[in-house]
Amino acid sequence: MPETTLGGRFTFPGTLLTVHRIGYGAMQLAGPGVWGPPKDPEAAVAVLREAVSAGVNHIDTSDYYGPHLTNQIIRKALQPYPAGLVIVTKLGVRRPTDKSWQRAITPQALTAGIHDNLRNLGLDALDIVNYRVMGSGHGPEEGSIAEQVAVLADLRRKGLIRHIGVSNVTATQVAEAQAITDVVCVQNYYNLAHRHDDALIDDLARRGIAYVPFFPLGGFTPLQSSTLSAVAQRLGVRPMQVALAWLLHRSPNILLIPGTSSVAHLRENLAAAQLKLSAQTLAELDGIGAGAAKH
Ligand SMILES: NC(=O)c1ccc[n+]([C@@H]2O[C@H](COP(=O)([O-])OP(=O)(O)OC[C@H]3O[C@@H](n4cnc5c(N)ncnc54)[C@H](OP(=O)(O)O)[C@@H]3O)[C@@H](O)[C@H]2O)c1
Repeated sequence: MPETTLGGRFTFPGTLLTVHRIGYGAMQLAGPGVWGPPKDPEAAVAVLREAVSAGVNHIDTSDYYGPHLTNQIIRKALQPYPAGLVIVTKLGVRRPTDKSWQRAITPQALTAGIHDNLRNLGLDALDIVNYRVMGSGHGPEEGSIAEQVAVLADLRRKGLIRHIGVSNVTATQVAEAQAITDVVCVQNYYNLAHRHDDALIDDLARRGIAYVPFFPLGGFTPLQSSTLSAVAQRLGVRPMQVALAWLLHRSPNILLIPGTSSVAHLRENLAAAQLKLSAQTLAELDGIGAGAAKH
C-alpha cells in the first residue's frame, strides 16, 4: 500500500510494530453500555473484516468490553490473523455482573486479565498492553502506578506481553512508568474539543512515543460544534471526518482508533485520511478547543 494510505505509517518506538495512523477501536462492538453481545453480531464481524481489508492494522480492544465478547468477536472475525495486524488491549478494570466499572489492579487480577485476553483473542502473546488507570472516570488522577506497571513488566519478561503502554494517565505517571519499562504508547481522552493533553502530546512526539486519543469523536457524547459543522459543509465532507483529519494534522505521533458499529461510518472514518486541512481551517478548528477550555 502507498505510504499515504490511512494517514501514513507509524512505528512504535523500539519495536518492529508499524501501523497505519488510522486504526479501529472495538469498544462499540459490544452491546449497550459496553455490556453483552452486539444487537447484530454479523454486522460486528463485517465491520472488523471491512476494516482489515481496507488496510487497518491497528485494533484497540479490551477483555472487559462485553466482557470477553468483543475479543471473541475479533477472534471469530479475523483469525487466522493477517501478518502485521497489531492488536492492542488494556488491563486494570473489571466488569462485575451489576455492569459497573471496577478496579482490577492486584498482581493476581492483572495476570488473570492477561490470560483472559490471550484466551479470548486466541493469541500466545499480546503485542501491546496498556495499563488503564481508573483515575476519576474518563480523566486521570495523580497517584503511583508503579506496582501495576511492574507487574506488566514482569509479564513482559515472561513473554506474555511484547510491549507496554499506559492509559488515562498524567505526565507524572507516564514518567513513573518509563522509569520501570519502555512505554510505547499513551492512550488518553483527547479530541478537537478536549485539549487537556496538548503539552503531553508534544512531549511524547519529541520522544517518538505514540499518543492514541480515546473518544476521538467525543465517545458517548459525539462532538457537536457549529464551527465543525460549518467547516465540514464548506469542504463537502462529514463533521466526524473533519474531527479525525484535525487529529491527524495535530501531531505525527497521534494514532486514531475511532469506534463504530457501522460499516458506513467505518468507511467515512477511513476516508478522513484523504482530507487536507489548510492552515486557516486548522486555526478555525483550534478555536473550538480554545472556546471549550474557557468554560
Ligand atoms: N483507554 C480508555 O480508557 C478508553 C476509553 C474509551 C474508549 N477507548 C478506545 O477508544 C476507541 C474510540 O472511542 P469510542 O469508540 O468510545 O468513541 P469515539 O470513537 O469517539 O466515538 C464513537 C461514537 O461515534 C459514532 N461514530 C463513529 N463514526 C462515526 C461517523 N463517521 N459518523 C457519525 N458517528 C460516528 C459511533 O456510533 P456508530 O457505532 O453508530 O458509528 C459511536 O457512538 C474505543 O473503541 C476503544 O477502543 C479507550
